[in-house]
Amino acid sequence: MEIRSVGVVGCGLMGSGIAQVAATAGFPTVVREVAQDLLDKGLASIERSLGKFVEKGEMSAEQKAQTLGRLNPTLKLDDLADCDLVIEAIVEDLERKKGLFAELDRIVKAEAVFASNTSSLCITEIMTATRRAPRFLGLHFFNPVPLMKLVEVVRTVVTDPEIVQLGLDFAHRTGKTPILASDRAGFIVNRLLVPYLLDAIRALEEGFGSIGDIDKGMKLGCNHPMGPLTLMDFVGIDTTYYIAEILFNEYREKRFAPPPLLKRMVLAGMLGRKTGKGFYVYSDPKNPKANELLQWQGS
Ligand code: 3HC
Repeated sequence: MEIRSVGVVGCGLMGSGIAQVAATAGFPTVVREVAQDLLDKGLASIERSLGKFVEKGEMSAEQKAQTLGRLNPTLKLDDLADCDLVIEAIVEDLERKKGLFAELDRIVKAEAVFASNTSSLCITEIMTATRRAPRFLGLHFFNPVPLMKLVEVVRTVVTDPEIVQLGLDFAHRTGKTPILASDRAGFIVNRLLVPYLLDAIRALEEGFGSIGDIDKGMKLGCNHPMGPLTLMDFVGIDTTYYIAEILFNEYREKRFAPPPLLKRMVLAGMLGRKTGKGFYVYSDPKNPKANELLQWQGS
């Protein structure tokens, strides 16, 4: 089987990025959202992102127009019926994902491959909502999708090896480097990244250093592009909390347990960049300031 067309369900941060890289790679891409304003927002971010590649000379204005022309935005799931590969990138809610896939299973042609972009939910469990277990896998992209090179291709114990290969090939065709991961909560990257991020919060809570210095330490001391607290603001404080809960529930190990401050930030609506406040305050987005209310929580 060959992938000739792609469907993406969800046009948020991840879905819009996935639709963008699929269309850039030459695939006719149907992208579906539940409401017109969400669809418009996602398409605007695709246009902005493609514009940055044009500005940098990495893409011509004509290629940008062609890429946008390959996108078919829609509010109807039925429009995905003929896609060869359907990638789901909706909210990280198991029941909603299962409900969506049960519906897609009825709508989309039987030979199509289904993939979830979940960062930590169990692929095997999502898969049970369909009657195409061998044709179901995880394709986990990273934020920001147009720039990040990695895709985790996640196989379950029943994924057909040919479908795994198809996932690896698809990642290559979108210019990404795939790695193969088993269906274990967090796969490879979040299994390693999340305890590190949570430890950065514990270091802050225990008074090891200020927000700025913890970030500077890892940025300049380890050459990371972002410090851990900046990265959590970027990924979303709620998303980080949610992933930590899933990992903790799966492994029951303390290192995955969300620290008290993380939960309180979620409750207080300090969700990071998207709400303008997290470990940093983004009133001037180009020049974020440490959120003084959070400094030295444990001291
Ligand atoms: N599309 C196109 N271009 C973009 C872009 C986008 N969406 N976002 C940024 N850029 C461009 C900018 O225009 C800029 O171009 P220039 O160098 O010509 O000026 C360039 O990328 C660099 O951007 P910035 O100057 O704004 O900022 P940085 O130099 O810090 O780079 C970054 C941004 C690539 C995001 C970098 O900080 C980085 O790699 N951070 C770490 C990201 C990371 O770890 N992601 C993984 C998160 S975990 C995850 O996704 C898993 C999930 O399950 C939670």
